[in-house]
Amino acid sequence: MEPPAGAAYTDTPAADLALQVRSLYRYYQTGTTVVRALDGVSFDVKVGEFCAIVGTSGSGKSTLLNQLAGLEPATAGIVRVFNRDIAALNERELVEFRLQNIGFIFQSFNLIKSLTALENVCLPLVFKGVNPSLRKKAATVLLQQLGLQNHAGHLPTQLSGGQQQRLGIARALIANPRIIYADEPTGNLDSKSAQETLKLLKKIAAAGNKTIIMVTHDEHLAQYADRIFKISDGKLVAVSRGTISDNVNKQ
Ligand SMILES: Nc1ncnc2c1ncn2[C@@H]1O[C@H](COP(=O)(O)OP(=O)(O)O)[C@@H](O)[C@H]1O
Ligand SMILES: [Mg+2]
Repeated sequence: MEPPAGAAYTDTPAADLALQVRSLYRYYQTGTTVVRALDGVSFDVKVGEFCAIVGTSGSGKSTLLNQLAGLEPATAGIVRVFNRDIAALNERELVEFRLQNIGFIFQSFNLIKSLTALENVCLPLVFKGVNPSLRKKAATVLLQQLGLQNHAGHLPTQLSGGQQQRLGIARALIANPRIIYADEPTGNLDSKSAQETLKLLKKIAAAGNKTIIMVTHDEHLAQYADRIFKISDGKLVAVSRGTISDNVNKQ
């Protein structure tokens, strides 16, 4: 039976969960004041789900994403990514775990300006030690899939914002991660490019059985997601289902 729309937990077996977050806290001490950036958050995400994390500026969205990637230690609580308790991994194991499992998409694209589109997309495979001809082959296929085949030799500055973000998405996908984290991926895009990016993410989640966690402060764009987690003052205050369900695979 489907869990109710507002459920943060599912009755899904642990093996089918991409994320299990339990009583997660992240406090920052600045001088004498303590900022409760995350204040006891618990939820599950199923493999293949496209989830949005929404909330106003300063509500704890980026802190949560950093926790889900093991980029900072938690103050307390549990984060399991594909059943691995990431607090149990040392720094070297974490780097390896991210390389094997996680793709990142950034608001400011984080492309390397001196590298071509093709070279930017190849980068994760360089870190994985894949040989140059295989890298180039894989990147060429992805550029084609994302409609960037005519821009392989272009530098990021020669591309529009929407194209740069598609390049960022290609780079996030090339190492075939199981989960993708995107922090405000449309924050620097006009509304049309933003909408296209969301459709693309939705399609990727549906077609590749990829799990996507996208942070946004835009409540409308969040409606493309399967589920929406609303964060306020470091707490999960609501869970709902996205209302935009147009069949993006047909487009
Ligand atoms: N490294 C840090 N040191 C101190 N306070 C921080 C740090 N990172 C985030 N915060 C604080 O934690 C709260 C949540 O921040 P953040 O997760 O970046 O919010 P959001 O991404 O939703 O805008 C804010 O009050 C922010 O100032
Ligand atoms: Mg943020």
